[in-house]
Amino acid sequence: MAEHKVKDVSLAPGGRMKIQWAESRMPVMMELRKRYRASRPLAGARIAGCLHVTKETAVLVETLMELGADVAWSGCNPLSTQDDIAAALAAAGVKIFAWHGMSVEEFYWAIERTIEILKPNLTLDDGADLIFTIHNKYTAMSRSLKGGTEETTTGVKRLRAMAQAGELLYPVIAVNDAETKWDFDNVYGTGQSSIDGILRATNVLLAGKTFVVAGYGHCGKGCAMRAKGLGARVVATEVKPTAALKALLDGMSVMPMDEAARIGDLFITATGVKDVIIGRHFDVMKDGAIVCNTGHYDCEINIPELRARADSVREIRPNNEEFRMKDGRRIYLLAKGRLINLAAAEGHPSEVMDMSFANQLLALKALHEEAARRAPGVYELPAEQDQEIGRLKLETMGMSIDTWTEEQRRYSSDWKAGT
Ligand code: ADE
Repeated sequence: MAEHKVKDVSLAPGGRMKIQWAESRMPVMMELRKRYRASRPLAGARIAGCLHVTKETAVLVETLMELGADVAWSGCNPLSTQDDIAAALAAAGVKIFAWHGMSVEEFYWAIERTIEILKPNLTLDDGADLIFTIHNKYTAMSRSLKGGTEETTTGVKRLRAMAQAGELLYPVIAVNDAETKWDFDNVYGTGQSSIDGILRATNVLLAGKTFVVAGYGHCGKGCAMRAKGLGARVVATEVKPTAALKALLDGMSVMPMDEAARIGDLFITATGVKDVIIGRHFDVMKDGAIVCNTGHYDCEINIPELRARADSVREIRPNNEEFRMKDGRRIYLLAKGRLINLAAAEGHPSEVMDMSFANQLLALKALHEEAARRAPGVYELPAEQDQEIGRLKLETMGMSIDTWTEEQRRYSSDWKAGT
C-alpha cells in the first residue's frame, strides 16, 4: 500500500462495492478507459487532485491511473469525504489523505502531503485550494507545472480574478465551463443531490412548504426545479436582474431575502458569496425554519451570527443542529452550513458525474500531451469535445438523434437565403 491517511482501511470492501456501482452508471468514463487503456496517454503525468472523495471520484482516480498517471489525492471539503471510498482507494494503492470531519488544519496538511509526496506536474481542483496552496507555499513549482483543471464555478471565478491580477502562474482549464459539465452537473446534479441531502438530514415533507432558494444560477435553478416538482412553493432571491427574471418566468416567486426570511420554511443558499443569510434574517424566521447551503464554501450562511442568537444548540439528527433562539424559536442548520449534497448525501449521482469527469480526463490528457506549456491563464475546453461527450452519453443511453443533410448544412451557413 502506498502512503495514505484515511479513517479506517477496513472499510475498503464496502467502498469497493460502491465504486463498482458507480462504474456501472458511468459508461462514458468506462468507454474512455477502454479506448485509452493500451496507449496509456497519461504515462509520465503526476496528478495531484483535490476533489470530493466519492465513489464517482474514485472512478476518475482509477481511470487516470489506468491511463498511466501517478496520482495523489486529498478531499476538497472537510465534510465531503466518504470514508469507505477513501479506504477502498488506499487499499488499491492510491496515495490518499482524506477523512470525513477533518479540521481545517488537517485539510491543508492533506493538500500539502499530496504536493510533497508526488511533486505534481498537473493538478486537478474543485474550489482551487490546491492551486492556491501551490502558489502560496510552493511558488517555484507553480512556475514549472504544466497545468491544472478546475471543476467548480466558485473556483473558476477566483482563478479568473487571480489571472486578471497577474497572479496566476500556470495554465488552468475551466472544466466547469464545458457545456457537458455546467448545463448538467450544476443543474440536475446539484438539484437532485441537494434535495437528497435535505431529506436525509430532515425527512420533512416538501409539498406545501415555502422553499427559498438564494441565487438562481444553474445550481439554484436545479434546486428550485426539483423542490417545485415535489410540491413546494419556491421563492428565489437574486441580485442579478436577468437571473431574477428567469426565476420569475420559470414560475418562482421573487423577492429580497429580507422578505423571504419571514415566510420561508426551508432555505438553501447557492450564490457563491458570503453573508447571504445573516443575523437580521434569523431574527424574523419562523419557528422551525430549516437553513442549508449548497455553495462551495461555508460562508453563505453567517453561522457566528446564528450562534450568537442562540441560547442552546444540540444535534437533533445527523447533519441537523437545532439552535434554540433566546425568544424560544428553533432554527435548524443542516450540515454545519457546508455543501448539503455532499455532507448529508452522496453528492451528484454517478450518471451526471460521468460527463463532468470525462471532461476532467480529456482536459488533463490535452495538457499532458501538449508539446509546449501554455501561457498562464484560464482556458476553455474545445466546443467539439462537448459534442463528442454528449454524443457518447446519448449512445450509452441508447438514444440516436438526427443528422443534417448536406443541403441543410449548406443552408445553415448561407447568408443569402431569405424568406
Ligand atoms: N461534486 C458534486 N457531486 C460530486 C460527486 N458525486 N463526486 C465528486 N464531486 C462531486
